[in-house]
Amino acid sequence: MRLVVTGGAGFIGANFVRTVAREHPTAHITVLDSMTYAANRASLEDLLGPAPGGEEPRDDDDNATIDPAGGAPRATVELVEADCADASVTDQLVAELTGPDDAVVHFAAESHNDNSLATPWPFVHSNIVGTYTILEACRRHDVRLHHVSTDEVYGDLALDDPGKFTPATAYNPSSPYSATKAGADMLVRAWVRSFGVRATLSNCSNNYGPYQHVEKFIPRQITNILDGRRPRLYGSGANVRDWIHVDDHNAAVLKILSHGDLGRTYLIGADGERSNLEVMQTICELMGVAGTGGSAGSGGAGGGSGDPGFDHVTDRPGHDLRYAIDATATRAELGWEPRHTDLREGLQQTIDWYTAHRDWWEPVKEQVEARYATTEKVL
Ligand code: NAD
Ligand code: DAU
Repeated sequence: MRLVVTGGAGFIGANFVRTVAREHPTAHITVLDSMTYAANRASLEDLLGPAPGGEEPRDDDDNATIDPAGGAPRATVELVEADCADASVTDQLVAELTGPDDAVVHFAAESHNDNSLATPWPFVHSNIVGTYTILEACRRHDVRLHHVSTDEVYGDLALDDPGKFTPATAYNPSSPYSATKAGADMLVRAWVRSFGVRATLSNCSNNYGPYQHVEKFIPRQITNILDGRRPRLYGSGANVRDWIHVDDHNAAVLKILSHGDLGRTYLIGADGERSNLEVMQTICELMGVAGTGGSAGSGGAGGGSGDPGFDHVTDRPGHDLRYAIDATATRAELGWEPRHTDLREGLQQTIDWYTAHRDWWEPVKEQVEARYATTEKVL
């Protein structure tokens, strides 16, 4: 199996590559990533380069590489640093996918809502022009594509709405990020219908887990506490997100690749609805911040009496209220089930990972917080 994984040096893509490399040791994975600020080569470093002992990839066994120490085959992973909107590179890589199980898995995108409010253009470029370019390459070479998208294309739900997003929910995106993802989804659907491109789509809820950039909610709070900074909650924290562990998302993507119906959209979610306030309180509790010593406003992470241990800060403009995914059809049709259903346990594992991998996030932390400081005010 040969895969081109766009955005494979980002959060979900890198976890996907790591899963495939582990579960499919004969796979050949080409990561196509433009290495934006959101990418981190260190997320893949141990999988890249020549096999232990310097052996070349074997060409008689679907590109598997032999580890001389253990004799076990190891997936071949290469990183091509390029823009997926660059047709010459994309076309060349996609043309190499000639086997029956070969595919493009398209994760590449600008992914952060706050950035899209400040600077929308990269979102239009990567998410729309990038997806168009991938589609044209897949059309030209008749290659299977899976397009990874978000529940944000559906807009938001009221906090007291008993409903959830389903594949029949109308698109109603709110932010420049979600509008560009909606546009990309529409391109994929049009290329399926008009040109017969062999594509599937998935729309997933909020992911958490290892290798997530510290600009995002959960890793930002964890690393703030580890760094002696106060965690930051937008507005009152009443907004609800539907959390899923990244490994559960990627397991569903693999099921769709192997068993999904072409042209179909699959919703992925794990019934993990929580308010941001609840998630914040859980992180603070697990990290020993809430209700422990220190004084409010001291600049440290500790909270004094009556101090929750975090700051309420300026709310995000146009902040979506609630996301919630109904994944019934995906579960029933593909036999996929999320395995990490205890969010508290998943948060503890994520805290442990960031605690053990300071070298992965520390180099970018200061810059991320400096950027937030230009827009955030403590309420
Ligand atoms: P991320 O920002 O961590 O990673 C995105 C990766 O794409 C980065 O490595 C970046 O360098 C790369 N990239 C960006 N523009 C590119 C371009 N033009 N060419 C090549 N590479 C480019 O994002 P993520 O959270 O891992 O999200 C991955 C995908 O999953 C996105 O499509 C996103 O919309 C979708 N998604 C994310 C979530 C979530 O909760 N994070 C939920 C549902 C869907
Ligand atoms: O729903 C799927 C989407 O989830 C993906 O498509 C996006 O790529 C991904 O970034 C995520 O979008 P959100 O905007 O929901 O994620 P973020 O981590 O930025 O914020 C989660 C919630 O936490 C949101 O309601 C805003 C809030 N928040 C965020 C940050 C960074 C805070 O309260 N404080 C913060 O410091």
